[in-house]
This record gives sequence, structure tokens and C-alpha cells, in this order.
Amino acid sequence: MAHKSIVLTGDRPTGKLHLGHFVGSLQQRVLLQDTHEQFVMIADVQALTDNFEHPEKVHENVLEVALDYLAVGIDFKKSTVFIQSMIPEIAELAIYYLNLVTVNRLQRNPTVKNEINQKAFGESVPAGFLMYPVHQAADITIVKGTLVPVGNDQLPMIEQTNELVRSFNRIYNVNLFPEVSAALSSSPRLPGIDGTGKMGKSAGNALFLSDEADVVVKKVMSMYTDPTHIRVEDPGCIEGNTVFTYLDIFATDRVHVADLKSHYQRGGLGDVKVKRYLIEVLQEVLEPIRKRRALYAQDPGEVMRMVLQGTHVAREVARNTMQEVRSAMQLNY
Ligand code: TRP
Repeated sequence: MAHKSIVLTGDRPTGKLHLGHFVGSLQQRVLLQDTHEQFVMIADVQALTDNFEHPEKVHENVLEVALDYLAVGIDFKKSTVFIQSMIPEIAELAIYYLNLVTVNRLQRNPTVKNEINQKAFGESVPAGFLMYPVHQAADITIVKGTLVPVGNDQLPMIEQTNELVRSFNRIYNVNLFPEVSAALSSSPRLPGIDGTGKMGKSAGNALFLSDEADVVVKKVMSMYTDPTHIRVEDPGCIEGNTVFTYLDIFATDRVHVADLKSHYQRGGLGDVKVKRYLIEVLQEVLEPIRKRRALYAQDPGEVMRMVLQGTHVAREVARNTMQEVRSAMQLNY
């Protein structure tokens, strides 16, 4: 049998997943599970690094994220879905990795830097937050992952993982961990419905996979377009116009989108008409997701049972890796 690369990916359970997650990596995972051995991790430990005062929020969202996974078509028989905190070997490996990275290096991680600014920790950045990329390296390498489907904001995490992999193999003179690459989405990043750079769970600008049809209508109708396009007969701008950005990503009828674009630019096409078309397109994407989600949501006990089963499988893999780590580090007494 050909050697398959191993996929490891995951999400923080701090809220329900949205369309940004869908185009960023969920769609990819649905495809990868047919060709790769795939692990999908519900990153509750990482979620706590900036929500440690709200354990109930993290707890509740583990089920929500699992439901979102099932809803988009992640098949728990094909993918091993597991809960991060139930694999103590990840935390153990992270402790050993911490010797191989400097505090300075952690402070230079661009994603962490950004998040620290956004979250306004000020001078009081929790050490757990600063080191989460090291923990993430442990997530990936505990299953010897080689491929990580993520959005491009996660590239610094992959880079830091590879630095750790190289250091570990060199210092302990083993070839235990393979290098990791990102499987980036071919879609551009999805902006929020307010037209800002990024759709975010708590930014108030997200279209959630679980949003009911009437909520989708409301959100699309409130979407950012061209603020200078006031009267229908005015020519409108399609660059930076969120409705057209979404149509580019989600509409399959390219010819119709091209027609709408030139009509909009010429003048004579109102925002509401374009938005109605986008609603139609999005409902077609979201309707089957919503239906599947509602079906699984009827039996949360069964969903959690499936997640625990996946966790059991992942734990076995993690135990084996840790045994090799301990032996490489002469911790095998
Ligand atoms: N950092 C990711 C996020 O914020 C979640 C995550 C944790 C992850 N561990 C991972 C993603 C390992 C890929 C691989 O969404």
C-alpha cells in the first residue's frame, strides 16, 4: 500500500463554525478524508488559553463544533474526531518542546502577536497563550501529521512546528517526526458581512453554518456593498463589494455572475436584486448543512459517544508516539 500522508487539523470550540471556516478548511477536510488518514481535533485546551475564565463556553461548544463537522459532511467513520484535553500526551509533548524554543521566538510569532493586540491583554499575556503554538506543534506531531488544512493565518504555526520537528530530531538524534506542510484553501479569505477583512465568531459579522434561512436573508440584506452606489441607475463598484466577493466564491453560474457584474458597473442594477441572488446561492449551500445538523442535534448523546470513540483511537496513537519520544529522550526507565 502506498504511504499515505497523515492529516491533522482542528478548531477551537469557542463558538459555532461559520462560512469562513467552510471555505477556509472544512470543505477540504471533507475531500481529504477519502484519500488520507485524517484526524480532526476539537481544540478545547487551546480554546481555554483565552477563555480560561469561561470554561462553560468551551464545554458547550464542543458539541456545537462536532455538530458542525457532521453537518458539513465530515464522516466520523472516515475521520478520527477527538477532544484535545482527553489526550494528555499532547500536553506532555508540549512540555518537552518548550525546551527547544526561546521566549523571544514565541513573542515573534506573527499570529500570536496579532491576537495579543486584538485581545488587549496589555502587559498581562498569559504564558499559556504565548506558548499555544508549541502546544499546536504537539497536536500535529503527536499523530505524526504531515498535512494541515488551515487558513493562511495559521502558516506561522506550521513554520514553528517545523522548527520544533527539526530541533527534536537533531538534538535527540532520531528521525521520529516528519516535516509538516499546510494544505491551503484555493478560495480567498472570506470577508465578514460587514466587509471587514475577516469573518470572526465573535466579531458580529459571521454567517454561521447553523443560521436559519430567515437569518441568512437578514444578514445578506444587511451586507456591505458599495457605499457610493446610492441610486439604482448609478454605476456601482464591484471591487471590495462583499456581495460580489461572496458570489465569486459560492455561485456556480459564472456567466450569470459576469452579467450581474457588468450590469452593476454600468448602472441600473440595484443592490437588493444582487442580494436576492446571493441569498438564493447561499441557501442552496446551507440548506443541506442545516438539515443534517438538525438531524444529528436530535441525539447529542450519540454525537458525543462518536467523539469519545474517536478520542479513544487518537489516544492509542498518541501513547505510541510518546513511547518513542520517551525513548529518544532517555526517559524510558
Ligand atoms: N489554531 C487553530 C484555530 O485557532 C486550531 C488548532 C489547534 C489547530 N490545534 C491545531 C489547527 C492543529 C490545525 C492544527 O483555529
